[in-house]
Amino acid sequence: MSQPVIVTHRDAVCEVRLNRPEKRNALTLDMYRALAEAIAAAEADERVRVVLLSGEGACFTAGNDLKDFLSGPPIDDPAHPTGRFVRAVAAMSKVLIAAVHGPTVGLGVTLLLHCDLVVAAERSTKLVAPFVRLGLVPEAASTLLLPRLMGHQRAAELLLLGEPLDAPAARACGLVNRVVDDEGLMEEARTLAKAVACQPAQAVRATKRLLRFGRTDDVAGRMEEELREFAERLKSEEFASAVQAFFARR
Ligand code: COA
Repeated sequence: MSQPVIVTHRDAVCEVRLNRPEKRNALTLDMYRALAEAIAAAEADERVRVVLLSGEGACFTAGNDLKDFLSGPPIDDPAHPTGRFVRAVAAMSKVLIAAVHGPTVGLGVTLLLHCDLVVAAERSTKLVAPFVRLGLVPEAASTLLLPRLMGHQRAAELLLLGEPLDAPAARACGLVNRVVDDEGLMEEARTLAKAVACQPAQAVRATKRLLRFGRTDDVAGRMEEELREFAERLKSEEFASAVQAFFARR
C-alpha cells in the first residue's frame, strides 16, 4: 500500500508530500502522526535546513478527514496527533515552505500561517476555511494570526462566511508569496527552498527565531483556547448535520 505521507531529501531540503489523492489528501490521524514525526526528524537532522510541504493529485489538502473527526479521540487531548502536528509546526526552527494548489481547505489554509514562504498555483488554488459552515471554529491560532495578517474584516470574510480566496487574492492579503503557473508550482517551490538553503545556515536560523519572537506564547494560548471550543463544537448537532450532508451529497 502506498504511504499517505512521503518524505524525501534533496540536499538540505526535506520534502514532505501528502499522498492520499483519492481522498484529496484529507488528513487522517495516521497522517498527522506521520507529519509530526517528519517534522521532528527534520528538526533533529542537522543537514536539513528547509522543509517543503506539498500535495499529490488535484489539491494540496481537503483539510481534516471528516470521518476521523467523528471517530477520533478528543481533539483537545494534549496527545492528539492533530494538536501535536500543529504545535510542532508552530515551533519549528527550520524554514517551512508550502506549495499549494487546487481546493485547499481547513487546516490546509490555517497551516499556511505557520509557514515562512508560500507558493500558490495560479489557476487552481482555492483557499477555503469552512469551519463555521461545518458548525466548528477555526484552529491553529488562525483566529489570532489571520486578523493580524490581513485585518479583522478580511479575516472575518474568510472565517465567518467561508468565502474562497484564489491565489492572487491570497497574495494581495499577504498569505501567499508567489503565484505561478500550475505546471511550474513544484519547480518554483524547489527553487525557493534551494535559495533559502544556500543562505548562511546560522543567520537563517537566528532570523527565523527573531521573526517569531514574541508571538510564541500568544499562539500557544490561542491554539489551546480554540481546541477547547473545537472539541465542544464536534459534539454539536450543527456539526453532525453538516458532515452528514457532505457524505450524503451523491
Ligand atoms: N474528509 C473525508 N473525506 C474527504 C474529504 C474530507 N475532508 N474531502 C474529500 N473527501 C473524499 C470525498 O468523500 C470523496 O470520497 P469518495 O470518492 O469515496 O466519495 C473523495 O475524497 C473525493 O472528494 P470529492 O468531493 O469528490 O472531490 P472534488 O474534487 O469534487 O472536491 C473538495 C474537492 C476538497 C472541494 C471537496 O472534497 C470538499 O469540500 N471536501 C471537504 C472539505 C472539508 O470540509 N474539510 C474539513 C475542513 S475542517
